[in-house]
Amino acid sequence: MEMANLGKLKVLILGSGGREHALLKACLKSPKVSEVIVAPGNGGMALEARCLNVDLTKPADILNLVRKQGIEFVIVGPEIPLAHGVVDVLEAAGILTYGPLLAGARLEASKAFSKDFLFRHKIPTASSQTFQKLDAAVEYIRHQSLPIVIKASGLAAGKGVVIATTLAEAEQALRDMMQTKIFGSSGDEVVIEEFMQGEEASIMLMVCGEEYLMLPPSQDHKRVGEGDTGLNTGGMGAYAPTTVVTPEVERRLREEIIVPTLKGLKADGIDYRGTLYVGIMVTSTGPRVVEFNVRFGDPECQVLLPLLETDPVEIMLAIAAGTFRSSNAQLRSGSTIIVVLAAGGYPGDIRKGDEIKLPANCPADVHIIHSGTQRLADGRVVTAGGRVLGVVAHAATLSEAAQKAYRIIPTIQFEGMHYRRDIGYRQLKRNAGK
Ligand code: AMP
Ligand code: GLY
Repeated sequence: MEMANLGKLKVLILGSGGREHALLKACLKSPKVSEVIVAPGNGGMALEARCLNVDLTKPADILNLVRKQGIEFVIVGPEIPLAHGVVDVLEAAGILTYGPLLAGARLEASKAFSKDFLFRHKIPTASSQTFQKLDAAVEYIRHQSLPIVIKASGLAAGKGVVIATTLAEAEQALRDMMQTKIFGSSGDEVVIEEFMQGEEASIMLMVCGEEYLMLPPSQDHKRVGEGDTGLNTGGMGAYAPTTVVTPEVERRLREEIIVPTLKGLKADGIDYRGTLYVGIMVTSTGPRVVEFNVRFGDPECQVLLPLLETDPVEIMLAIAAGTFRSSNAQLRSGSTIIVVLAAGGYPGDIRKGDEIKLPANCPADVHIIHSGTQRLADGRVVTAGGRVLGVVAHAATLSEAAQKAYRIIPTIQFEGMHYRRDIGYRQLKRNAGK
């Protein structure tokens, strides 16, 4: 991908979740990387790389760290630094960076902006209206059918969406967001949307202008309980590929969603380089956009990087440099799964500080990814967040990958640990032809 002239680089990964731990593992394997630093990192990453503290909302602080450490390539994991314009600041300073500029990051940072983008470019999505005034929003929902979807326009860590089945619930959601401001200024504007029926899939694109690589379609499991019951979480597990995206759905996805999105970005003067996550609903009338995110999904990233035959770092470097050609990137066969091990109480008030016992070694193609963990000065690793660990396994088939992942879980222990035993169930059912 014409990056050979760069030699080996000193890389910084921004973020502290499972996604970033997976990116770290990719960097540690990459022949393009001489050294990796993570900021801020977590307990697992601290065992594999140097972790430094930084405020992800402060691009100037990040630039200082980059200069002080002699970093040559920055990979941005989460949306927060992107929404604060970190790529604009680093690129202006001549630092190669993987992730979109602020103009592109708005696709995730403002749902009002992304809905407007979708409508202007005639990309299939739920019909919706945007409101800044509570009274007008309340008046509007009285004339809509149920269920109805209420979304805080700004960033809300995946919690800003309410699917209301009654008018009272919808009105309460509007009051919570616009009056009580439970998501702060992210609720200054709300998007009220038609409910779409269907099965969701996560489409991860590695984008360089109009050139893109579509990673295998994956599915997240957002609810805490088996059979998709209980409260919403950041994601309790994922697998890839999913055949809910049939060849026909994929054709329509590329023609009706991906190509118009990349052309639309260009037409709007946005030079998009980085991951574009298109959340889709596969409906009876075809795929429709649920949302855009401007970074890898977590936990989707953890199952997608192992499905790349080509070095992911090489792809990210070529995208950052604007030289990427998708024909140079190869995917790997087989299936991957991640089962998330969550802290007691998650997704509510969680326990923290419990010691984690890990197996001494893992079989080939099984990895333990850290999310909410912390390494203490005495070397012990303890729980420090809701999603604590993820067990990733790769195999020829999903059912073998699931067996590999679930087999290792009993060797992992921490107080209050819970996980879903049915990750991948929709696909396993499809595979069984039921
Ligand atoms: P978002 O943050 O926009 O992805 O919304 C979070 C979740 O809410 C999605 O992953 C869907 O499960 C659900 N959701 C959002 N919008 C809709 C919609 N219009 N129809 C049905 N479900 C939706
Ligand atoms: N897994 C959903 C997300 O990363 O937003």
